[in-house]
Amino acid sequence: MHKPFDFEIGRLTGQGSESVRPPLGLAQAPERGTFFLETFGCQMNDHDSEKVAGVLLARGYRQVETAEAARLILYNTCSIREKAAQKVFSRLGEYRAKQSEGKIIGVLGCVAQQEGQGIFERAPWVSLVCGSASYRKLPELIAQLESGNHRVTGLDLDTDETFESEITRRDNPFRAYLTIIEGCDKACSYCVVPYTRGPERSRASDSILREVGQLAELGYSEVQLLGQTVNSYADPTPSKMRFAELLLAVARVPGIRRVRFTTSHPSDFTLDIVEAMEAQPKVCEHVHLPVQSGSTKVLQAMQRTYTREQYLEKVAMIRGARRPIAITTDIIVGFPGESEADFEETLSLLDQVRYDSLFSFKYSPRPNTPSLRLNDVVPEEEKSRRLAVLQDKQREIQSAGNKQLIGETFEVLVSGKSRRENQWSGYTSSCRLANFTSHAKELLGTYVQVRVTGATPNSLVGDHMV
Ligand code: SAH
Ligand code: SF4
Ligand code: F3S
Repeated sequence: MHKPFDFEIGRLTGQGSESVRPPLGLAQAPERGTFFLETFGCQMNDHDSEKVAGVLLARGYRQVETAEAARLILYNTCSIREKAAQKVFSRLGEYRAKQSEGKIIGVLGCVAQQEGQGIFERAPWVSLVCGSASYRKLPELIAQLESGNHRVTGLDLDTDETFESEITRRDNPFRAYLTIIEGCDKACSYCVVPYTRGPERSRASDSILREVGQLAELGYSEVQLLGQTVNSYADPTPSKMRFAELLLAVARVPGIRRVRFTTSHPSDFTLDIVEAMEAQPKVCEHVHLPVQSGSTKVLQAMQRTYTREQYLEKVAMIRGARRPIAITTDIIVGFPGESEADFEETLSLLDQVRYDSLFSFKYSPRPNTPSLRLNDVVPEEEKSRRLAVLQDKQREIQSAGNKQLIGETFEVLVSGKSRRENQWSGYTSSCRLANFTSHAKELLGTYVQVRVTGATPNSLVGDHMV
């Protein structure tokens, strides 16, 4: 059987006597206690970086804008596709010279968890490797480096302290991310996440609601609940709040005006979530529901746990809601064994569902995943062709879909101000980007009504209705 955790799980591995680097804190620029943090990957990684920054700032570290100005360079990585992982090692190559300047270079995130000690072999100038479940230990790990240890790792996945007493420094002033479930218990045959983020762990509902209350007090009106399978949430407290109940409870927190959630797994998407969206307008009218393929044969090979028909039933359930709910998705083209006919089924699914937006990817074989062993590989050029065909089709669907919205009025949370005069941007509850004209002096962070006057495949164009 496929074993998600059969790679080596490291411990703190300080080897003080082998230190080759001069102890930090001597009269060396840049200033001790400064860190530079670069992030790649999904929203969970973005949010993890906010937590890492929070933990370090609380210990008196100072965040700087460039690697040059920092003593500690941290790189929060993604390994979902080969390209993302390759980027890590090429970026580490660029950092190589910096280690000789007395800097500490650390790798965090999914590549750290997946490659573990292997990173030291491929990039010996790295001295810290730490996965997402161990970030709370970072100050301790860094202290070990500062006291002369040569290499340290934090790679335990079985930590249950992941959610406790969050100290977070949020980057986005308008939307606050909040992870409610870590890890993933699904076993999609192409995916590294179960290896890099470990088994599912849900955060206690009372702890989530406490943090939402704090966020509202800080002035956030929109929260986005995060999880790789956010709707598989299983409250560990005696109240055993269901995911749909949690959405409603978050929406009831005074000051909260919008609740988003991502990513939903189709198999765990239940009617009570749709009912919560119908009952509570603060729950945003958008579901990200990755399908991956329109062919049941390919879905089975992917171990996605639903058929095309079962997926379409979920779509019908969402489309049947009393509010219009936008649906977006993720698609992989060129999975091993995907025939032209299978791919055509994905195209016909696009016609049937008419997604509001989608992310599409060429299948990328990943280490340790079961699909690595599958034969009948689709050639790279063919994957590229299918991706282009899919994206062209989706562009037409979005273009037509957005044009139909001309004349309608949407509430937009304003989050951007263009350099061009009187031009602003923000998102609708359905997660559509709206670029609009307004003569108001200051709108950032406010909710405005925007009437749609034009559309592109990826955005709405409109006017502020005063
Ligand atoms: N937990 C989410 C998504 C996780 S990763 C879910 O289950 O849907 C985000 C997207 O990356 C996936 O939905 C999938 O479309 C894509 N992806 C994951 N592994 C991939 C791989 N090996 N090759 C290509 N795309 C991949
Ligand atoms: Fe990966 Fe998502 Fe599947 Fe989990 S559910 S294994 S995160 S694609
Ligand atoms: Fe990438 Fe890890 Fe997220 S592999 S997509 S950063 S969970």
